[in-house]
Amino acid sequence: MLSFILNNDTIHTDMPPGMTLLDFVRYHKHLTGTKIGCREGDCGACTILVGDHCDDKVNYRSMTSCLMPLSNADGKHIVTIEGINPSSGQLTPVQQAMVEENGTQCGFCTVGFVVSLTGFCLNNNNPSQEAAIASIDGNICRCTGYKSIERASARLINLLNTNQNSASLAFAIEHKIVPSWFADIKDRLAEINASTSERKSIEPIKKYTIVSGGTDLYVQRPEDMVHSVTLNMFNRNSLKEIIEVDGRIEIGAEATVTDMLESPVMNEIFPHLKKHLKLLSSTPIRNMATIAGNLVNASPIGDMTIWFLALDATVVVRNEIQDAELPLRVRTGRDLSVLSKATQPSGNSREIQLRDFYEGYKKLAKSADEIVEKIYFKKPDHCCRFNFEKVSKRTFLDIATVNTAMFLRVEDELIVEAHISAGGVGPIPLYLKNTSSCLLFKLFPFDEETMRELIFILESEISPISDVRGSADYKRLLMKQLFLAHFTELFPAS
Ligand SMILES: Cc1cc2nc3c(=O)[nH]c(=O)nc-3n(C[C@H](O)[C@H](O)[C@H](O)COP(=O)(O)OP(=O)(O)OC[C@H]3O[C@@H](n4cnc5c(N)ncnc54)[C@H](O)[C@@H]3O)c2cc1C
Ligand code: FES
Ligand code: FES
Repeated sequence: MLSFILNNDTIHTDMPPGMTLLDFVRYHKHLTGTKIGCREGDCGACTILVGDHCDDKVNYRSMTSCLMPLSNADGKHIVTIEGINPSSGQLTPVQQAMVEENGTQCGFCTVGFVVSLTGFCLNNNNPSQEAAIASIDGNICRCTGYKSIERASARLINLLNTNQNSASLAFAIEHKIVPSWFADIKDRLAEINASTSERKSIEPIKKYTIVSGGTDLYVQRPEDMVHSVTLNMFNRNSLKEIIEVDGRIEIGAEATVTDMLESPVMNEIFPHLKKHLKLLSSTPIRNMATIAGNLVNASPIGDMTIWFLALDATVVVRNEIQDAELPLRVRTGRDLSVLSKATQPSGNSREIQLRDFYEGYKKLAKSADEIVEKIYFKKPDHCCRFNFEKVSKRTFLDIATVNTAMFLRVEDELIVEAHISAGGVGPIPLYLKNTSSCLLFKLFPFDEETMRELIFILESEISPISDVRGSADYKRLLMKQLFLAHFTELFPAS
């Protein structure tokens, strides 16, 4: 049984954990304010807010309900437009701003925009027009045009800037951005999460699909997923940590791209983190997309995969299930840490270097029932330089035609460590072993002969094919140009 709060109602349901939250709210709860557009995470018509109780507050993030398994709602506060509408029948400040700036015509997209902007009001720590607009980067409007919606968001910024503490829930309630019952949600979630920890084992699981954010699975196999037995990973908060331990950076497999973006540890190491990660899809998808999902999906152009390959990262996998009887709540999510000792995983973990993780197209060096638990890499020191490049048909909200990352450790202009990755130029995400080795112990800037040698080796390691994203020749040329772009970025003064 799944338990969560939907708007102001506590829900206990036995509906299939694999069905989408969108179908649950529209067809089972008849909350038809949430719209169905693309069902592929692209349009934002189905945007809802997901509130997670942590650090003594509820953090709200926007997500696309069309790709979200119902099981990911377990223990959370789910907010649809019906949960935002004031009972008085008046408009919230977000809705009012949209009306006054003519931000809506047919209205099909409007709910998504209102929900995303409401989430922004609840979360913003630094209200700026740029951040408000970024919060609606996953919402598409086909008829109004964006200028009026941008003006509506500027009105909100004016409102938020009236108070230093505008990110607080109290401010949102006082200004009727959300209803007053939001104040009780924290305690209600705590109660739900405490009571479900007592649920006991009921059935062994033999065959299951591991699901995290669902942003790949629900695009690739939407029908299958509804009735699949799923091993839900997304709600395991203990696998979301991003920490520094003994000179290395460990990232829990269930950390999302947004978790990385907001991580102080990552921001300290990667000064261009925001610039790079904002190239990955939209805010709602980044709020759902996990590192494990990106790695295991094994797309040759997975952005996080290319990123971590150049950090020469190691993946930790574990076969936690074997034939053991597992409690239902493992199947539906939440942390294993609350289980009794007898049902704790046996700890058969092993480590695989990410560069050895891909054995062929979508073929991994792990078995289907091994979960990815975390990924780690050596903490870069002040001699290290890292760059990520991605070229897509559109700069934002698009998957890569070619992407690549480069990590260098440079001492007195001598390259003492080098790792280069390349996506979209082979059947798997590539670690360019020979090009990386060839860079070792070279002095930068290179002479012409060295550069020719490097390009020659690079070309021998890639094998792009022509497809909808570009011809093989174009991708080959692109990869060479991006290789050069790395040096321009990493050695700006040269
Ligand atoms: C609109 C849209 C835009 C996108 N844009 C980009 C983009 O710009 N760049 C990009 O790289 N990707 C993009 N993606 C793809 C996707 O968002 C990412 O690959 C994401 O990281 C997948 O993570 P997830 O948690 O949603 O994976 P899921 O869909 O939950 O799972 C993906 C695969 O990983 C497996 N899996 C998940 N968790 C684990 C685990 N812990 N252990 C073992 N196996 C596991 C699942 O079984 C499945 O095979 C986009 C997707 C959408 C819908
Ligand atoms: S319906 Fe388009 S993003 Fe969900
Ligand atoms: S108002 Fe019609 S799609 Fe936006």
